[in-house]
Amino acid sequence: MVIKAIRGFNDILPSEIEGWQFIEKIAREVFENFGFSEIKIPILEKTELFARSIGETTDIVEKEMYTFQDRSGDSLTLRPEATASMARAYIEHHLYARDPAAKLYFIGPMFRHERPQKGRYRQFYQIDAEIFGVAHPMADAEVMVMLMEFFKRVGLEDVELQINTLGCEECRPRYKKELTQFLAKKVSQLCPDCKRRLETNPLRILDCKVETCREVIGGAPLVMDFVCDRCTGHFERVRGYLKILNAPFVLNPRMVRGLDYYTRTVFEAMSPKLGAQNAVTAGGRYDHLMRDIGGPDIPGIGFAMGIERVVLLVPDKRETARSPYLFIAALGKEAQLRAFELVNQLHLQGIKAEIDYEGRSLKAQMRRANKFNSRYVLIIGEEELKRGRVIMRDMEEKVQEEISLNEAIEEIKGRIY
Ligand code: HAM
Repeated sequence: MVIKAIRGFNDILPSEIEGWQFIEKIAREVFENFGFSEIKIPILEKTELFARSIGETTDIVEKEMYTFQDRSGDSLTLRPEATASMARAYIEHHLYARDPAAKLYFIGPMFRHERPQKGRYRQFYQIDAEIFGVAHPMADAEVMVMLMEFFKRVGLEDVELQINTLGCEECRPRYKKELTQFLAKKVSQLCPDCKRRLETNPLRILDCKVETCREVIGGAPLVMDFVCDRCTGHFERVRGYLKILNAPFVLNPRMVRGLDYYTRTVFEAMSPKLGAQNAVTAGGRYDHLMRDIGGPDIPGIGFAMGIERVVLLVPDKRETARSPYLFIAALGKEAQLRAFELVNQLHLQGIKAEIDYEGRSLKAQMRRANKFNSRYVLIIGEEELKRGRVIMRDMEEKVQEEISLNEAIEEIKGRIY
């Protein structure tokens, strides 16, 4: 039986990789212009890190994590997101010691045992950016502006930025109480999961996708009507800064997030073209996540975008002309050895070149040259080799000429670059 990849785990093939490289390149460029530095974090963390940050009663922690005991008996989890790990690294390495303000970004795979469908996978990639150590609403506006600049640069003008506020530890309990009272009256209409959530985490009900629950949620009180003056002030300033920086946004008072760590500002970038999985990016502020995982009480804000979703959206107009290959066709053992030496020299000098390893016929080698889309083919024949000459064929102009083997590299460089 042929072994296949695990459901929800994808291979990204060479034919698709250019889109990925393009997206990552633009992200790096834009983020670094905004003062962000790259960080790398491990794929595995202690399960507790995610339970304490994302929240014990969230879908991610309850149902979706890849958690197992390792050989030492520790409970480990394949990271379902990057924010908690980045915060852990920031605390562990005292990155806040000299200056708490740190702008970090990360690119890598995440793992969630969700039901796979278009735009939703079990291993998926995120590009994640975080500002740690800044409570000021300017940071909220800045990350959103940076995100929208990224979308502009990759050619996605129709991505919509939606924002909301979820209040803070002081005002949210009031809202939670109000919401619980409202939902308790409609408990018969709630799905079994939400009936349970009413006890454990009523705010999560707002995120439920079951139709009957959605109907109930439609009439539920809005968190925005319960937030304290300080949260309202923060949110007003965020909106003000977004306007000053000319970043269009839409207020979505019903937006909630699937992770418990958020406080105050939350946002999502939505694309009408993605269907059910329409969030290309999501993020928000989390002012006590660091404290909740045992660190100092340092605030943070950031976002993560799903690369697969961006790839689905970015039009394939970038058929970036790959720099051309040079193909070296060799006839006979001696010629093949020279070709092998030559191709190595070309590689060392930064020129993409290929040979045929199998000593096939000239016709077969020319087919291979075509496969590599080679503009030029260098043909080393036994006869020519004795005279120190090779044939350089221009595949586009369909002309060829003899050149000196010793000068071949210079000649190639002159023509290709
Ligand atoms: P999230 O909403 O769970 O937030 O995920 C962020 C983005 O990752 C989504 O908007 C989507 O584009 C992508 N994504 C999530 N799950 C999948 C999946 N199964 N398949 C494909 N793409 C997916 C977070 O992860 C937070 N850490 C974001 C954040 C950063 N908040 C503050 N800083």
